Amino acid sequence: MRILALESSCDETAAAVVENGRQILSNVVATQIERHKIFGGVVPEIASRLHAESISTVTAEALREADMTLDMIDAIAVTYAPGLIGALLVGVNYAKGLALGSGKPLVPVHHLRAHIAANYITHRDLEPPFLCLVVSGGNTMLVQVKDYTEFQVLGRTRDDAAGEALDKAARAMGLPYPGGVHLDEASKGGDPHAFSFPHPNVEGSPLDFSFSGLKTAVLNRLHNAAQKGETIEKADLGASFQSAVTDALLRNTDLALEMYPETDKLVLAGGVSANSVLRERVALLAKRRGVRLYLPELRLCGDNAAMVGAQGFYEWRAGRRADMSLNAAATMPIEENGR
Ligand code: KG4
Repeated sequence: MRILALESSCDETAAAVVENGRQILSNVVATQIERHKIFGGVVPEIASRLHAESISTVTAEALREADMTLDMIDAIAVTYAPGLIGALLVGVNYAKGLALGSGKPLVPVHHLRAHIAANYITHRDLEPPFLCLVVSGGNTMLVQVKDYTEFQVLGRTRDDAAGEALDKAARAMGLPYPGGVHLDEASKGGDPHAFSFPHPNVEGSPLDFSFSGLKTAVLNRLHNAAQKGETIEKADLGASFQSAVTDALLRNTDLALEMYPETDKLVLAGGVSANSVLRERVALLAKRRGVRLYLPELRLCGDNAAMVGAQGFYEWRAGRRADMSLNAAATMPIEENGR
């Protein structure tokens, strides 16, 4: 079963061919980072235009790299939610055109389910059920993956996502976009105990996250230093902030493992799962709790279409199909199977 998958939810235009949900035959990603950098973040209108400019070239490249033509493909999968609406619409409309023209089935894929599915490519033996910490630019949640297409959210962020907090802190520290990656680099060798940060708690919902207080704390620290003319050691501040974000992520993960003692597999997913401190410390947590840990390989942490092809396979197997009325959605709960 070969799936041609498309992804355009944010600032990467991507296409891939994936076999049986586990094997990458091609994986092409055209990143727009350079075009958004000067604005310090993604400009949605520019993102949509750039997707429209490159989607057909990227798709052709993915087929060429897989040494295939469209008639050798069994289905077309596309990210339809959540994400930037104008950006998503480019992929959705292009996929609809391909499906209509070729008569192949069209399979809608939820972006966060796809991030989780990146792990099925990296770890051929990984099967649900497992507990997954999803940490991306726009979302942070703890999810029980009961089956390939069955999810239960145990905890989610009440405000900012972890990636967003890292990006904002990095930007305030004068680091380039995308901040999380540069903050990770700039913090290497820094003292994680140099600055103290609050330990956010969501009262009554111990598995929920909150990162806005942490973000405000780092911004205040920088403003105070600027007002007093103090210089702040970026490596120390970055390391302390990353450590505080990681603490919050892992404290809830630890609690979830305690609350659901039958869990024997822990999985990380999303762009922030590339973070070196998080990868290191989650390994210690998994060891302490005696659960097997699965991390996505670095090239599949950020947005790509291979992960869409992986999840697309399982959605297809579960009978999920879309027709020409498929629409994009800026928000969509991960549990939902509607469109
Ligand atoms: O999952 P993703 O590619 O996009 C969404 O689907 O949201 O996540 C992007 C996020 C950004 O916030 C980016 O700064 C962060 O992932 N990120 C990192 C690292 N690499 C990417 N954050 C911390 N450390 C990294 N090494």
